[in-house]
Amino acid sequence: MKPKFSFIDLELEKIKKDNLYRKIESGISQGPTITIRGKKLLNFCSNDYLGIGPSKMKINQIQSSSRLVSGNDESFEKLEKKLARHKSQKASLIYPTGYMTNLGSISAIAKKGDIILSDELNHASIIEACKLSGAKIIVYRHNDIDDLQKKIKQKSKNKFVITEGIFSMDGDFSRLPEITEIAQKQNAITILDDAHGDFVVGNGGKGTANHFGVSKKIDVYISSLSKGLGSFGGYVASEQNVINLNINKSKSFIYTSALPSFLVEYSLKQFDSNRGKQQKKLWENTKLFSNELHRIGYKINSKSHIIPIIIGNEKTVMEFGEFLIKKGIFAQPIRYPTVPKNQARIRVSITAWLTKKNIGNSFSIFDEAFSKFLK
Ligand SMILES: Cc1ncc(COP(=O)(O)O)c(C=O)c1O
Repeated sequence: MKPKFSFIDLELEKIKKDNLYRKIESGISQGPTITIRGKKLLNFCSNDYLGIGPSKMKINQIQSSSRLVSGNDESFEKLEKKLARHKSQKASLIYPTGYMTNLGSISAIAKKGDIILSDELNHASIIEACKLSGAKIIVYRHNDIDDLQKKIKQKSKNKFVITEGIFSMDGDFSRLPEITEIAQKQNAITILDDAHGDFVVGNGGKGTANHFGVSKKIDVYISSLSKGLGSFGGYVASEQNVINLNINKSKSFIYTSALPSFLVEYSLKQFDSNRGKQQKKLWENTKLFSNELHRIGYKINSKSHIIPIIIGNEKTVMEFGEFLIKKGIFAQPIRYPTVPKNQARIRVSITAWLTKKNIGNSFSIFDEAFSKFLK
């Protein structure tokens, strides 16, 4: 008899053969550096963009149950009020993660008979959430206004347009002024997942819609507390009735344990920290790094702190990543299915943790890598 799990071995072999095999690498993160395989490396792939991560907390409650049972520590309400104000919305609701926020709230709001227009590069959690909702999903070409305009004309009960603010793997800004205008004309509801723009861009870190001056045109905001805020969790902010519906219908809110309250307290602390100073430093660092990479010869299309170096081939991207580790830099190779096949890349994320000296030290390494892999 064949071993029970031989089909799994076959599947794993195929993943390896395609150069798409993933391994978990343990590391100890210390601000601008991360120690991996016993080697201290400059960390060019943290999502703690503002570098406000580690501050000390005294741990109170660890965990009790779902928020609808006895897990609703009073700290949730405090943070939810602040997050609603942060987005100029009536109310907000915290979920255990950003992923769960997308799953739970998109599927609570949209349903069979509706259509959702979704950017082709939207995050996996948005894609899964759209499928869960039962609505008809219409994918429009990435940031392509003409394609959106054409596709949004289909008839349906309710229409939704869903986009990221700053795209997680390409680092480009969504064309929110045009998208929101089209959505308004069609009476469609605009949902913005701003996981990578929230706390990082806009006045006071209010996010991508604020950056473009179109905050009022967003109907539902979804975001993560695990990136720009350097904490943990996710949230949705919108009208009070939208939040009430989420509380009543959203499975990833109702049927799971609440975030431990010390993490909520931690987010409150991060929210009230000196984010403005860190935001300014992040943008100085981003400019310094992108300008130099551009000078070396890299094609840099991103205008944000997420700077992908597109390599294409999956095998080469792994070699590129290993080369960087050998030289003292940690920047993760990203491959299919996170990005399309043959669009493998090194996703550099700049943080305010990095000093100008750290960034300066990386230039000769990126220069060498360019000659070795891209010339
Ligand atoms: C656009 C987007 N939305 C949602 C998430 C999920 O957020 P979290 O890490 O809080 O689950 C991510 C995570 O990378 C993301 O990139």
